[in-house]
Amino acid sequence: MLRIQGRRCLELDMPALIHRARANTCTLLDLGAGDGRFVAHIARAYPDGLAIGIDACRENLIEQSRRAPENAVFLVANAHALPAELTEIATRLAITFPWGSLLTGLLDDPAFCARLVSLVRPGATLEVAVNGGALAEAGWTLEAGAARIRSNLCAVGFALRTPLAWGAAELRACPTTWGRRLAFGRDPRAVFLPGNWKGEKEML
Ligand SMILES: C[S@@+](CC[C@H](N)C(=O)[O-])C[C@H]1O[C@@H](n2cnc3c(N)ncnc32)[C@H](O)[C@@H]1O
Repeated sequence: MLRIQGRRCLELDMPALIHRARANTCTLLDLGAGDGRFVAHIARAYPDGLAIGIDACRENLIEQSRRAPENAVFLVANAHALPAELTEIATRLAITFPWGSLLTGLLDDPAFCARLVSLVRPGATLEVAVNGGALAEAGWTLEAGAARIRSNLCAVGFALRTPLAWGAAELRACPTTWGRRLAFGRDPRAVFLPGNWKGEKEML
């Protein structure tokens, strides 16, 4: 896992990062953060909080990580291979418009969904948004794919509320780069799955 700021690679002090994340009353973890715009937005909106963005693609994160405030942390990592120490850090877990292996993890991989549980603290909120185009590429309709992901997240213990159908207006209002892109694209449809973590975790 690499910590980056622009094109620079910073030393990643994992124990310090985890300590800071757990000590903070608001710690966002954005998986598949893309260009990191949402992470930078939350870091500016909550200067006393911590916002961590993880994406597999380093290039994506370069621009925002150069300009974001100090309480925004950008990490390059595969969400399927996060370090074991990264547990119980997030009060808010966001996965917004996933594609590729991040999306298939939510659709088809119970172990990946269970790993998401280990990332959050008690009472954490969960925000997953999936879009029609990415699900179509993965062989699912928007409705069936969103229902499958919802069911997988419920199965590992997240409490999911009623899904919300998003059209162009909601996508435009979503403060991520892909939200805007999808709003003006060919298939401006998404489903937002809001939830939180209430359950007790099994001690393994
Ligand atoms: C459609 S983009 C959405 C980006 C951002 N969330 C947004 O809304 O603008 C999907 C992102 O998921 C990332 N991604 C896909 N699979 C991943 C994985 N296994 N681990 C980490 N990131 C992944 C991609 O690199 C890409 O940046």
